[in-house]
Amino acid sequence: ATNRTFTMIKPDAFGAGNAGAILKMIEESGFKLVAMKVTRLSAEAAGQFYAVHKERPFYGDLCAYMSSGPIIAAILEKENAVADFRTLIGATNPANAAEGTIRKIFAKSLEENAVHGSDSDENAAIEGSFFFSDLEKVGV
Ligand code: CMP
Repeated sequence: ATNRTFTMIKPDAFGAGNAGAILKMIEESGFKLVAMKVTRLSAEAAGQFYAVHKERPFYGDLCAYMSSGPIIAAILEKENAVADFRTLIGATNPANAAEGTIRKIFAKSLEENAVHGSDSDENAAIEGSFFFSDLEKVGV
């Protein structure tokens, strides 16, 4: 079925000027942009977004990094969106990411890994609602 996922182009990739190239790969892979914005997270907002990781040793660094510069947040639509997007972006650690994946091409490190992709339909909805209002999520 057609469904949605949520992505962020993270500060490393945005700052390196790779947002356009990444969005091109996303569109060429069949994902439709439903909602998109350039924004910047405060450290507090990053902490809320990643609250699920708050007991992890990397949480503090992750929140600092994710608030270090602008990002793109976007909702994407496609058949089998969540799973297919995770295939397109590759493994969390770019050292383990398959050839041709967004993280293999653009990520700098395990932390600075270029893009986020939701891990479930439920989290896609929660994460999309973190950045976008109901009106902004209507799509076209
Ligand atoms: P993502 O899977 O999008 O969301 C959690 C993020 O935390 C992950 O991308 C990385 O940016 C970061 N991350 C995950 N695991 C580690 C780790 N072991 N060390 C540092 N950062 C990590």
